[in-house]
Amino acid sequence: MTNKSIAKRDLDVLWHPCTQMKDHEFLPMTPIKSGKGVWLEDFDGNKYIDAIASWWVNIFGHVNPYISSKIKEQVDTLEHVIIAGFTHEPIVRLSERLIKLAPKGLSRCFYADNGSSAVEVALKMSYHAHKNSGLEKPLFVSLSNSYHGETIGALSVGDVELYKDTYGPLLIACVQTPVPKDLSEEAAITAAHSFEELLKERADEISALIVEPLVQGAGYMHMYHPLYLKLAKDLCEKYKIHFIADEVLVGFGRTGTLFACEQADITPDFLVLSKGITGGYLPLSVVLTGDEIYQKFYCDYGLNKAFLHSHSYTGNALACAAANATLDIFENDNVIENNKKTAAYMANHLSRFKDLNNVKEVRQTGMIAAIELKGYAPEKRIGLKVYEYALSKGVLLRPLGHIVYFMPPYIINEAEMDLMFNTAYEAIVGLPEGE
Ligand SMILES: Cc1ncc(COP(=O)(O)O)c(C=O)c1O
Repeated sequence: MTNKSIAKRDLDVLWHPCTQMKDHEFLPMTPIKSGKGVWLEDFDGNKYIDAIASWWVNIFGHVNPYISSKIKEQVDTLEHVIIAGFTHEPIVRLSERLIKLAPKGLSRCFYADNGSSAVEVALKMSYHAHKNSGLEKPLFVSLSNSYHGETIGALSVGDVELYKDTYGPLLIACVQTPVPKDLSEEAAITAAHSFEELLKERADEISALIVEPLVQGAGYMHMYHPLYLKLAKDLCEKYKIHFIADEVLVGFGRTGTLFACEQADITPDFLVLSKGITGGYLPLSVVLTGDEIYQKFYCDYGLNKAFLHSHSYTGNALACAAANATLDIFENDNVIENNKKTAAYMANHLSRFKDLNNVKEVRQTGMIAAIELKGYAPEKRIGLKVYEYALSKGVLLRPLGHIVYFMPPYIINEAEMDLMFNTAYEAIVGLPEGE
């Protein structure tokens, strides 16, 4: 088997996500044979650093020996069981651990199997909790430029045109309030002020505010100050609407703390987690909430008051074993402290890009670094040029339009970071001048 033979078979039968398939008339598909640490290897023996952690899921490297061993143990014991009326030990253990680690006051775990579904759970639970209290609140608020996934509900609360616009007539009711325009405290205060203006007018209709704490990922790696989270949470309390923290991307150590909400010292009404939870091995997501919400659903026989949301693979035992193994690594390997050193090394590299003519801004929050290019019209597809160059040099970057970003597995070492950043530097220096 070669790259070419697998790619040909692939293009005969597959339809890939987030892809204009016609691009593959000129863009080769890259079939991956194996992975090890930050490295992926294709069928022709070429190796690539996974600088984007395979859509931000892989935090402890590919084929991590410890996580693999724990899944192997589980697979011979119990692979899956219906999670209504039945339970299993890995899911109970995982829930106990998550509750201990999460911001204080979150005491219940509700599982799904991907980030978008967990966002749907949080939205429905919020709406339903109000309904069970006799309130009809059919509206949600999200931040401008936000992204929460691509199922209909999750897409509705997003604000990235590229994904959303086509489906406008299908979406549920959501309004946007401005995201803080940069990392300053002043921007956080201004944005919170706008949010309060909206609440003064429409709080009666609104179930919840949903935010991506600190970093809007698919929204071009936009970053803002933790103060906004604190101010927005206070406003949610004042106007009696829920606060949903979508930490699908930023959870599990990405921003410098285990959960981004810790940096604002807040407890959201709903904490939504996925991606890194299984170390990038298996699909799993979870929504944590507190007793106040839980009690609104808890009653004598009354099925319409119960939360009737279910997915067949909810709480899959193998995924829970992978998640427990992931938490073991956090517990045993001083991950958050090590990430601080890795993030500092990334910052050193990043500063070199500031002086390039075609760079508008560089920004970083913890283990997420981004370079914003300037002067390129979207049809120039400048990100694609960076992607192609980097791939030819053994680095998997996947720019978001004109944003070149780095979100590597936490285990990346200095030599690997040198290769990753030097390659991006050569790619950016080699681009035509921006207009
Ligand atoms: C903040 C955020 N929420 C939700 C999602 C959706 O997760 P999934 O792709 O697993 O459906 C994503 C995916 O990138 C995300 O970044």
